[in-house]
Parts: sequence; structure tokens; C-alpha cells
Amino acid sequence: MQNRCDRKQDNLILIGFMGSGKTTVGIKLSYLLKRPFADTDQMIEDREGKKISTIFATEGENSFRDKETALLQDLTHSLQGRILSVGGGTVLREENRVLLKQLGTVVYLRIRPETVYERLKGDSTRPLLQCEDPLRRIRELLEARSAIYEDAADIAVDVDGLDSEEVAVQILAKRRGAGI
Ligand code: S3P
Repeated sequence: MQNRCDRKQDNLILIGFMGSGKTTVGIKLSYLLKRPFADTDQMIEDREGKKISTIFATEGENSFRDKETALLQDLTHSLQGRILSVGGGTVLREENRVLLKQLGTVVYLRIRPETVYERLKGDSTRPLLQCEDPLRRIRELLEARSAIYEDAADIAVDVDGLDSEEVAVQILAKRRGAGI
């Protein structure tokens, strides 16, 4: 029998790079499945009373990562029956990947760097992309992270060229197909 601590909680977790549509797809899934939606970046901003960009600028990325881990630990005690999207770098810590699997079915929104660039050019809310050559940065980060996203996921969907509804429908079909 599965240990209580190993048991998956009944949530759908969206992971993937910045701009992959985790929030918009999450809201769409929330509507289709009639389940509440939550987003960890938003929860951290609410907890801290500060924007993510301010946390990065004043406390640094590592402190932000600690807040992500602390939040996931709290959610494993409370989150049930939700759609949850998490920040693009959450999967970087192995500890977080274990927590995500405990929380539920993990869905990776796979995206090409050029699509991220098109979607996020001009965006000022992602501190990691505020640089001279954002496309190059996106390519580097995606190259470093792709295998980690794949490894962390139960299901993956290619989102390039799809709208949020099409992505949501594919997720639900793949989930059914995988019997999850
Ligand atoms: C980050 C992604 C952001 C946010 C922070 C760091 C990352 O979230 O958590 O800026 O490391 O990829 P989104 O993926 O929701 O943009």
C-alpha cells in the first residue's frame, strides 16, 4: 500500500518555461474542470507583499527560490483538487520536483525559444530576461532546463501554434490516455 506521504494529491500542476502559458492554460483548465486555480508566483507576491522583480532585485534569486520551496512544502499540507501553475524555475531544485510529484499530476508545457521571445518581448516582469539579448538568454536557459522539465513531468504538450483552449483540451486527452 502506498504510504500517505507518497500518495499523490489530486491536483493538476503546470510547469514550463516563462511564457509557455501556464497561467492562461491553468485558468482555462479551471473553467473546464470546475476546479479552483492558483499560481505560485502570485501566492509568493501576496505573501511577501512585493513583486517578484523586487524580490529578485533586493534579496536575490536564491532567496526567491527558498520562498518557492517553502510555499510548495506548505501546499503539500493543504492543496487539494486544484489547478496549480508554478514559476518557470521551480523545477530546478530536486526537492521541489519531489514536492510537485507529491502534489499531483505534473504537466509540462513545452515551447520553442522563438515562441517565448515573440510572446515576451517587451515584458519587464521577468527579471531573468532583462538583458541585452533576451532571445539568446531564452535559448541558454531552455537548453539548460529542457531535460529537467521532461524528467519532472507526467505529461507533456507542445504549445507552439496552439491557443490556451487547444492546449487545455490536449492536456485532458493525454491525461485520460495515460489513465491518470
Ligand atoms: C522564473 C519564472 C517566473 C518567475 C521568476 C523566475 C524562472 O515565472 O517565477 O521570474 O526562473 O523561469 P513564470 O514562469 O510564471 O514567468
